[in-house]
Amino acid sequence: MCARQSCQKMNFKVFIASFCLVVMAKSENAFQFRQERSLASEKDFTRGVNSTALISVSIQLRFTDFTNENVIPAVNITAANGTTAFQFLQQAAQQNPCYLSQYITYPNLGHYITTICCVAQNTTSNFYWFVYINNALSPVGVDGLIPNNGDILRFEYRFINSTDGNHTETSAAKSPKVGKQDSMQMISVSVKLTFTNYPNPNVQPPEQVIAANGTTAFEFLQLASQLNPCYLFNYTQFSFGRYITTICCIEENKATQFYWFIYLNGIPSPVGADLLKPKNGDTLTFEYQMSTNTDHSTSAPTPRSATPRRATPRSGTPIINPKPTGKGQQMPAASLNVFISMAIGILAQKF
Ligand SMILES: *[C@@H]1O[C@H](CO)[C@@H](O)[C@H](O)[C@H]1NC(C)=O
Ligand SMILES: *[C@@H]1O[C@H](CO)[C@@H](O)[C@H](O)[C@H]1NC(C)=O
Ligand SMILES: *[C@@H]1O[C@H](CO)[C@@H](O)[C@H](O)[C@H]1NC(C)=O
Ligand SMILES: *[C@@H]1O[C@H](CO)[C@@H](O)[C@H](O)[C@H]1NC(C)=O
Ligand SMILES: *[C@@H]1O[C@H](CO)[C@@H](O)[C@H](O)[C@H]1NC(C)=O
Ligand SMILES: *[C@@H]1O[C@H](CO)[C@@H](O)[C@H](O)[C@H]1NC(C)=O
Ligand SMILES: *[C@@H]1O[C@H](CO)[C@@H](O)[C@H](O)[C@H]1NC(C)=O
Ligand SMILES: *[C@@H]1O[C@H](CO)[C@@H](O)[C@H](O)[C@H]1NC(C)=O
Repeated sequence: MCARQSCQKMNFKVFIASFCLVVMAKSENAFQFRQERSLASEKDFTRGVNSTALISVSIQLRFTDFTNENVIPAVNITAANGTTAFQFLQQAAQQNPCYLSQYITYPNLGHYITTICCVAQNTTSNFYWFVYINNALSPVGVDGLIPNNGDILRFEYRFINSTDGNHTETSAAKSPKVGKQDSMQMISVSVKLTFTNYPNPNVQPPEQVIAANGTTAFEFLQLASQLNPCYLFNYTQFSFGRYITTICCIEENKATQFYWFIYLNGIPSPVGADLLKPKNGDTLTFEYQMSTNTDHSTSAPTPRSATPRRATPRSGTPIINPKPTGKGQQMPAASLNVFISMAIGILAQKF
């Protein structure tokens, strides 16, 4: 026996699954046809039959759970005609780290995107990644979708209302915890991310954050992450304070000696994120850069590694991390989601 609620949920999932399978069976031909077509054009492309036909596509990210849905700038990519939506996303990630994705590869269905910009699908809150082409939900998966010249390819993180009535979780937009305490002096600080391993290190727009006077750099980063998911970060707690290891899914890398540094108005911070208190009008920058022996004693605390390593010369190409999460135990739920997304896509096409 299970609790009433979970029973309802389970029954519902079984219902959705069987419903989707029926839809899938009906439209399998169309889907397979599209898959074949995409494989065929990929073959032509790799053979170099016509490498002169280039198309330009605008790639966008949208987070419907954020106050400002369009916080991430679009990336324009020019690529060979026949390039798939999946390949366009990979190319966008070489221009802007927020476009880095994680995905599951299914033998017969292809790639299924689970995470973009460090924001993962959430099977509890029912937020998933959807693919839109020119504002219409894509009828096919990311491998079958082949944009045309001038198209707008959008990856949107949004809620899917799958329950019929009793789903009470809300997708209420998060808003920064900046109170309207009149007694408190508020200051405005520009919070920036810089990725020196990218062609354009300042590809992310700064976030203007208003907070109480005395707010620390760490807290400003937290507030910025409520405005823009690229500012989401991880840290390690040390006795001397919290040390930032990862921002926007870009992790410090001891092998390449890239770490996150803190700058205030362009000057390396002499203290860590917990002690630094920006003033009104300041620019607080978190910069992913290679640590040099002469520099890092004056910058943010850097954990000493026992064996000093030679810096590997970087070619200027961005660090790409397309590692699929591929957790075995998540497969059943995930494949159910593939069916849901595809079935919805097919339905959207029909009506
Ligand atoms: C791209 O390929 C498609 C299908 O092969 C064709 O219809 C379209 O005209 C091509 N576009 C360009 C810009 O070559
Ligand atoms: C390749 O495409 C270009 C532009 O669409 C066209 O002018 C050219 O004739 C094509 N070449 C071949 C070999 O099909
Ligand atoms: C991308 O292309 C669109 C038009 O398709 C243009 O409005 C926009 O400014 C371009 N963005 C960048 C960053 O080049
Ligand atoms: C998923 O959403 C639920 C409900 O909103 C939340 O409690 C949970 O922390 C989320 N999980 C992740 C991994 O973000
Ligand atoms: C989901 O849909 C139901 C019925 O269509 C509606 O009453 C409910 O408010 C929706 N839930 C959310 C979170 O949008
Ligand atoms: C919604 O929940 C209420 C109790 O919270 C229950 O009485 C009702 O039957 C549920 N409705 C549906 C459609 O499951
Ligand atoms: C913030 O606090 C500092 C020191 O406590 C003070 O010098 C400064 O004037 C304050 N700034 C504002 C805008 O209140
Ligand atoms: C923080 O760490 C967790 C666990 O390693 C990881 O799943 C998550 O993506 C990380 N978040 C960011 C913003 O890097």
